[in-house]
Amino acid sequence: MTGKTLRVGVIGCGFFARNHLAAWADMEGVTLAGVCDLDPAKAASAASDFRAERAYADAAEMLDTAKLDFVDIATQMDSHAFLVGLAVDRGIPTIVQKPLAPTWEASVAIVEKARAAGVPLMVHENTRFQTPVRRAREVLDSGRIGTLNWARVSFRTGHDIYGKQPYLADAENFVLLDLGVHMLDVARYLMGEVESLYCQTRTVKQGIRGEDMATTMLRHEGGATSIVECSYASPIHPDPFPEMTLHIEGSKGSISLTPPYRMSVFADGRAESIDVEPAMFDWSEKPWHGAQESVARIQRHWVDCMRAGRTPETSGADSLKTYGLVFGAYRSARFGQPVVPFDREPANG
Ligand SMILES: NC(=O)c1ccc[n+]([C@@H]2O[C@H](COP(=O)([O-])OP(=O)(O)OC[C@H]3O[C@@H](n4cnc5c(N)ncnc54)[C@H](O)[C@@H]3O)[C@@H](O)[C@H]2O)c1
Repeated sequence: MTGKTLRVGVIGCGFFARNHLAAWADMEGVTLAGVCDLDPAKAASAASDFRAERAYADAAEMLDTAKLDFVDIATQMDSHAFLVGLAVDRGIPTIVQKPLAPTWEASVAIVEKARAAGVPLMVHENTRFQTPVRRAREVLDSGRIGTLNWARVSFRTGHDIYGKQPYLADAENFVLLDLGVHMLDVARYLMGEVESLYCQTRTVKQGIRGEDMATTMLRHEGGATSIVECSYASPIHPDPFPEMTLHIEGSKGSISLTPPYRMSVFADGRAESIDVEPAMFDWSEKPWHGAQESVARIQRHWVDCMRAGRTPETSGADSLKTYGLVFGAYRSARFGQPVVPFDREPANG
């Protein structure tokens, strides 16, 4: 695999896929061999905008004919089990967008199918690849703030997210599965695995189906506590969208991330302010550049892992730990009680 140009096919050419497509088109050592959408006009325009070899309207046809080294599925979650199945049945390594699937059982089934076939599977869980999150991880790894005690991972906005993603208004399980999956993954990535959690949800906006506010308290291995806040219903000025905020306290210091992309590290009695502004590419656009950079980074990570024969950070198996938190949070909110993550329940493990 080393050195060979890798052929990727992208399934789903909708709103968010344009970031995937731009990043693949930009990446050295990768050829956009095919793009596929049920809507032939979307596939055709993606092929022309991102110089793909061919446009398809049928995923199976692309997988059978485009001689792919891997496939990148950027459709909504209801189609993931079917599309991952098509790729895995053909032995084609697969990336699939978040959310992996609408239920815990369906998430496990997708991961298990790939595992049983020995086909590499990565969930495109990009937020942990954002510059500020990576920089926070580096500070934690340096040991400067000591043993972790407490954190808040927060994404609260009043931005109209329904304009570009109208389907969100109809999601039965909404903010935890759409945004919470990113924030809970960041909490895991920075604070470690989770032993138990307690969540409260609310539906604030009129006329939507699912919850648009969720507050989750996690107890991590080692005893640290974190609070993960997700809200699409917060009238805030100035609105931090699309940035998250972070606050982490350790035994010797703390880290705070506040918009616009400013990280404060307090350690050894000294405060330091670090610019964590994400990189811009020819194709990226403010204020989306943080997410766009993370898309390019996770795609680069996948290619590096493929070439080195390594398992990606957000492999299917690893991602189940994040989905164990998401579906655990729904159960906790429903019963009003703390729960263990789904992947830790003997019946589910
Ligand atoms: N990681 C992130 O930061 C991030 C941000 C936004 C959206 N997303 C996720 O990306 C996914 C897609 O969201 P979107 O807003 O781009 O949706 P979208 O509806 O705009 O695009 C999905 C596209 O997939 C196509 N499609 C569906 N089934 C197909 C099939 N069987 N074969 C071929 N094409 C098919 C549809 O025709 C559509 O064009 C969602 O899961 C969403 O949660 C992730």
